This record gives sequence, C-alpha cells and structure tokens, in this order.
Amino acid sequence: TTNWIDAAAHGDVPEDDVIGLAVAGRDIALYGVGGEVFATDNICTHGHARLCDGFLEGHEIECPLHQGKFDVRNGKPTCAPVTEPLRSYPVKIDGGRVWLALD
Ligand code: FES
Repeated sequence: TTNWIDAAAHGDVPEDDVIGLAVAGRDIALYGVGGEVFATDNICTHGHARLCDGFLEGHEIECPLHQGKFDVRNGKPTCAPVTEPLRSYPVKIDGGRVWLALD
C-alpha cells in the first residue's frame, strides 16, 4: 500500500508558482499549475540550488543558478545544462491537504 504523507495545506500551494518545504526530512518543491499540484525534489540535479528560488512557467521550472529547466510533471530535464532527471513524486489532494508518496 502507498504510504501517503501529509505535506501541506492545499491552500498553501500558490497557483503558477513554487514553494519549498521539508517533508519527512527531505527538501521538496511543490508546484501549483492549472489547479493541479506537482512535487519533485527541491535541489537541482546540476548543482546546489533550490528550485523553489527559480521561476515556474507552465509546467517548467527554471533553476535559479544556471537556468537549466525541468518538467515538474515527471522531473525530466528540458533545457541544458541539466541532464539528470529530478525525482518526482505522486501527489493526491484529500481533505484540503496535499499528500505525497515519497517511497
Ligand atoms: Fe541548476 Fe546548474 S544548479 S542548472
């Protein structure tokens, strides 16, 4: 069975923006896009930058350090210099809360 972890209130995830938060000891980024919420690791796979300090445009997050980009839906790199995917996590919204499956 899936181990869902309560990460945040749904209302705390900004629309068309990103927040970073600690969930179960991990640094996680939550993105609000088109009424949906997506979750990835918050640390860029290219260097030590937090993606919550970057810019979200549509489903793409741009890293603040060298402007690499990832698709927040699946963590895939979409723009150099990033080549390694980000881990992305299943999300469900239930009872006004955002739940993540981190395993
Ligand atoms: Fe993110 Fe270099 S640290 S693109």
